[in-house]
Amino acid sequence: MTLQISPEEQHEKVRTVVYATAQAAAEALAREVRELIERKNAAGEMAVLGLATGSTPVPFYRELIRLYREEGLSFRKVVTFNLDEYYGLNREHRESYYRFMREQLFDHIDIPPEHVNLPDGMVPLERVFEHCAEYEKRIVDAGGIDLQILGIGRTGHIGFNEPGSSRDSLTRLVPLDRVTRQDAAADFLGEDNVPRFAITMGVGTILRAKRLVLMAWGENKSEIVARAVEGEENEAVSASFLQSHGDARFLIDRAASNALTRIKLPWLVGRAEWTPQETRRAVCWLALRESKPILKLVDEEYNENGMGELLTRKGGGYELNIEIFNRQHHTITGWPGGKPDADDRQRPERASPHPKVCLVFSPEPQDDVMGMGGTIERLVSQGHRVHVVHMASGDLRVTDSEALRFVRVLQETSEIDPARWAEADRYATGVIEEIGAKGPFGDPPRRLRDLKSLIRRGEARDAAAALGVEAANVHFLDLPFYAEGRYRQFRLSSKDAARVGAILDRLQPHQIYITGDLADPSSVQGVAFAAFRQAWQEREKSAWRAHCRVWLYRGHQKEFQPHEIQMAVPMSPDQMARKIGAMHRFLSHNVADLLSGERNRATARLYDELGMPEYEAVEAFRSWVS
Ligand code: GLP
Repeated sequence: MTLQISPEEQHEKVRTVVYATAQAAAEALAREVRELIERKNAAGEMAVLGLATGSTPVPFYRELIRLYREEGLSFRKVVTFNLDEYYGLNREHRESYYRFMREQLFDHIDIPPEHVNLPDGMVPLERVFEHCAEYEKRIVDAGGIDLQILGIGRTGHIGFNEPGSSRDSLTRLVPLDRVTRQDAAADFLGEDNVPRFAITMGVGTILRAKRLVLMAWGENKSEIVARAVEGEENEAVSASFLQSHGDARFLIDRAASNALTRIKLPWLVGRAEWTPQETRRAVCWLALRESKPILKLVDEEYNENGMGELLTRKGGGYELNIEIFNRQHHTITGWPGGKPDADDRQRPERASPHPKVCLVFSPEPQDDVMGMGGTIERLVSQGHRVHVVHMASGDLRVTDSEALRFVRVLQETSEIDPARWAEADRYATGVIEEIGAKGPFGDPPRRLRDLKSLIRRGEARDAAAALGVEAANVHFLDLPFYAEGRYRQFRLSSKDAARVGAILDRLQPHQIYITGDLADPSSVQGVAFAAFRQAWQEREKSAWRAHCRVWLYRGHQKEFQPHEIQMAVPMSPDQMARKIGAMHRFLSHNVADLLSGERNRATARLYDELGMPEYEAVEAFRSWVS
């Protein structure tokens, strides 16, 4: 297949199709798979599919199930091979890929069990080599893979081919990278529990498939997607090997496309529209590239970087520099709720009303503090009525040892007065037994999840108190998608939006802060944001909505770049220390590298480099256009 590329795709070395949403991409891919199955079956052949795990393919599998249930697509003549399996996990382990595939797809379609192939994570070490060779042979005997589905890890891996995997590697046992294990930590209740090894098809095995489709959603994947699509084809990013396959495609959503040259630097590929946003992006990019503050950029630098046309429009670099400097500078405010009685024409937020009702949505407890702890503190101290609304309980991240610590205290307390505390003692003993019975990876019973949820609530209240938020203003929605779900398997329902909507109606906020707009749609942040969006849209006619402004912040996700920021709230070293103090109230799960506040310092450094005032740290926001 020859690659027909438009000028704007000139940096892309493999066909990359950007869809408006992950759902649209998943539906298109499911249609393609349907055609493949029908074509092969009509010719009297089996269709051979290569499958992947992770959050990414979830919408695609749901669409296949829909095609089976509603449109009569049969999988009786389909054979599947999965990319990989954790080594050391048996098939019934709740995190095994075997179980994942059954829960996400196989149990819901008519594929015969003997047509399903996955590497065996329990094969003894001395038989691993032989097992892998057999897996390769089974693929060949099936006639080779017609279509291989892929996701991409943050290290750029496909399957579990971590950096360093060679182009012709075959199915084998591999050690997992640190980043990969961190990304799986939530599934396994902590990084220490994540297996250290896996059996994976090799890059060579994957490249032998007749067609390859790699999916990626969410902004957190954007950098690695750009490296795989535009970078050198080499072992450092195993997904880059798709470049030299004759029939490979990346299917991505808009958020995952954000670091591609055509999106990030459109003027370099002749597609610039020079909107105010694009202009700010270009000038900030040029300043950072030239390591110069905005006000020192000169015409030659603009001309040499494809921005000559922009200069002509603006009348010269000097005028442009001043315009963008001012715009960037006006994003900075110590008054995130608006400055009372001040002229607010150049300020990010309106002066009135004052005080405002501010509603901070936190998808998982800690997102709020991590993303905007300093801003919450300021809003409170400036007299606003600040409510923190925790959307998901976060109990799935609380370790068993935390729960044990809690019930042991309860047990010991009951020894003080055994007669009066008998009930509490029974409860504690029951929980301890449940933890023992389920083992480290069993499904947590409801009572244990409820306890963990309370532990998380306690931490969230503590953290909010450290920022000055009253306990009565900390709310817990316990959204059903999370309470009834598991990581990578969440499913939004109308019950979620109804609960979010109820608190909006009750509080009628002037300001809403939320995150998750560009997250993987299957992540907690992605699902929680979808629940909010639905509730918001359903309230189009509510009077309060006309006076409400929605600000986006970043927690777990990639931080905003300077040109995207519409409100930058600076923090002093003392404020930063208090924010870090609040983050440390979350003891029940370990997010060491997020606790440093480094991203707020990095944003402050970028402002400094652009020639703005130099602060210790900055929390960044942009307004949401629904
Ligand atoms: C794991 C899997 C990969 C998958 C990757 C990304 O490492 N072995 O096949 O692509 O995770 O996962 P997710 O789709 O959840 O982002």
